[in-house]
Amino acid sequence: MTENRTGWSGKMRDLVRRDQVFEFLMPNQHPLIDTRHNMLLYLEGVSKSFDGFQAIRDLNLYIREGELRCIIGPNGAGKTTMMDIITGKTRPDSGAVWLGSNINLLQMDEAQIANAGIGRKFQKPTVFECLSVFHNLELAMAGARGVFAVLRARLSGEQRDRIAQVLELIGLAEQAGKLAGSLSHGQKQWLEIGMLLMQKPKLLLVDEPVAGMTHQEMDKTAELLRSLAGEHAVVVVEHDMDFVRSIATTVTVLHQGHVLAEGNMADIQANPKVKEVYLGE
Ligand SMILES: Nc1ncnc2c1ncn2[C@@H]1O[C@H](COP(=O)(O)OP(=O)(O)OP(=O)(O)O)[C@@H](O)[C@H]1O
Ligand SMILES: [Mg+2]
Repeated sequence: MTENRTGWSGKMRDLVRRDQVFEFLMPNQHPLIDTRHNMLLYLEGVSKSFDGFQAIRDLNLYIREGELRCIIGPNGAGKTTMMDIITGKTRPDSGAVWLGSNINLLQMDEAQIANAGIGRKFQKPTVFECLSVFHNLELAMAGARGVFAVLRARLSGEQRDRIAQVLELIGLAEQAGKLAGSLSHGQKQWLEIGMLLMQKPKLLLVDEPVAGMTHQEMDKTAELLRSLAGEHAVVVVEHDMDFVRSIATTVTVLHQGHVLAEGNMADIQANPKVKEVYLGE
């Protein structure tokens, strides 16, 4: 499959030229992602240095459609940099990054990549504190239309249904009318995930979602992320091993910018190399 896709890359480069990408990248209208090979995201041979320090080194990563993947690894392993590369915030020095087998992410900017169906949740929640939970979701759906347009606009029944559906999913239906600023830390994190969901991403990248959460909030976050898998591929970077254990299907261990090991939680925990660099004895 890999050879097949790589063999096509020259043709694909021509097909998905930057000037053509603009045409079909309208908000909420993702371009057709070719996942006939059942793969949603490909990183192949990706490397990135900062001032001579190699943060990412010949990294290969494949994410299937709808899968829930945990990425673990010591501080400085390159986990956040990897997400920066996928979302177009950082350009790799070499390698290939594709969404499906037809969309070359390296030829797109951050906004285009977001519109192509990749949503990213940063560690610190960035909700609009002075707006209600409902309006936050509405704003996320509107994208570029802006806050005043949202406050004036009438929603269609379909849009209301979508907001109601997301409120239910993130467990904030009862808080819909509350100001986002009055939510707990955990609730703000869920609201931000909800805001990403309004854009119907194919892939969600979530960096350290449970930092600062109570145990109860962690359990609810695990439930939420598990419920998103299937419809969305979800890639979660997290240090909290109890949390990883509670959601993990496949775990990838990064070390010095490279995949050290990949497998189910039991295999990873039994892996001597992983024990040495990360989990400890
Ligand atoms: N913009 C940058 N300029 C210089 N160095 C950087 C930059 N971004 C990342 N690095 C370096 O790259 C390495 C990988 O950092 P990264 O943040 O990706 O690690 P991480 O796995 O997310 O770590 P953590 O678990 O602490 O969040 C680190 O040594 C970091 O200092
Ligand atoms: Mg990080």
